[in-house]
Amino acid sequence: MVAAAPDGVNTCEYHLKAVFVDLRESWRIRDVEIPTRLVLAPMAGVSVQAFRRQGRRFGAGLVCSEMVSCAGIEHRNERTLGYLRVAGDEHPLAIQIFGSEPRAMAEAAKLVEAAGADLVDINFGCPVRKVTKTGAGATLLAEPARACAIVEAVASAVDVPVSVKMRRGLRDGARTCLEVGPRLVEAGAATLTLHPRSAQQMYTGTADHALTAELVSLVDVPVIASGDITSRARAQTVLATTGAAAVMVGRGAQGNPWILREIVDGDGRDPTREEVVAELVLFIRETVRELGERRASGFLKKFYSWYLGHGRFPRPFKQELVVLDSTVAVERLLIAAAPGALPLLERLEAELPGGEEVLLGLPISVYGGG
Ligand SMILES: Cc1cc2nc3c(=O)[nH]c(=O)nc-3n(C[C@H](O)[C@H](O)[C@H](O)COP(=O)(O)O)c2cc1C
Repeated sequence: MVAAAPDGVNTCEYHLKAVFVDLRESWRIRDVEIPTRLVLAPMAGVSVQAFRRQGRRFGAGLVCSEMVSCAGIEHRNERTLGYLRVAGDEHPLAIQIFGSEPRAMAEAAKLVEAAGADLVDINFGCPVRKVTKTGAGATLLAEPARACAIVEAVASAVDVPVSVKMRRGLRDGARTCLEVGPRLVEAGAATLTLHPRSAQQMYTGTADHALTAELVSLVDVPVIASGDITSRARAQTVLATTGAAAVMVGRGAQGNPWILREIVDGDGRDPTREEVVAELVLFIRETVRELGERRASGFLKKFYSWYLGHGRFPRPFKQELVVLDSTVAVERLLIAAAPGALPLLERLEAELPGGEEVLLGLPISVYGGG
């Protein structure tokens, strides 16, 4: 157990050098076995199937879809339904839904379960106006009765476990998650993920994992700690000082799957240029298969900077890639810059499990997430 931290003090800062925690340990959310204590975060506009499958390969024990609109599911919006495609090699997978009506959320959850998700995750964290103005996302933290009704309706509609992802509250300094969290568990949540920033904070400031520790002490379900996990030391410290079952990595994994390997296994070796190019080209190919060339070419541009940053390639090279309008041209330039990537790429492709489902023409969400 974790000692309670003084108010406002981030326990994790105390113990940065402290502890060894085995991230390769498996844990469970009810019947779902999660092979490592690392979860890949849901990120709108990022967490496509290719991202999730890559995350599993690099050591994430659980991966999550980006948030999917319950209204879109209810109206059988073809684009929204595209988000519910599950590949054979991404289990265990959580599909996240957002909405404000218990009945509609329950119906959406049934479809998510039928699609093959191992968990239905509910978004009570999204701070973006487009979502909060509909009464969904983080605003539900200010409406605990409705939030509980949603969890109860969803939990009774599906057999798979239901999880909830939330922020600390709406306003800076809020501790709402500590009041609402236990009620959500009573309503049927089998696990809680806490991103301990307020909705008002968006992504500024730091995640206060002293709150995560408090939440862990209040509930008897596993808690996942999200926010600012960017190294193995940080992951181990947060796990040890909060008692969380797992840590979640979001922005740190953008264009950098190697961070997952580092966090889980302590393998902090920087990837070679050839490895970076092979992984990026594979990601491009998988994303094109998933989204189609037209959507993928726009969607992928941010990934070029993410992958080629970290001092891996000079800035002018990234700029050259971003202006190209076909992914084939991007691939060509990448391979020309690191020809040794080709055999690595062939090996990666040969090792990918076959038979996974892919879908052309998926949409990319414009939402900003949680
Ligand atoms: C671009 C982006 C999109 C996000 N989309 C979602 C989302 O769809 N659902 C959600 O619950 N959280 C979303 N988040 C929040 C992350 O899951 C995570 O909680 C947050 O980024 C803090 O973790 P980090 O410091 O590791 O990035 C998003 C974050 C980012 C940066």
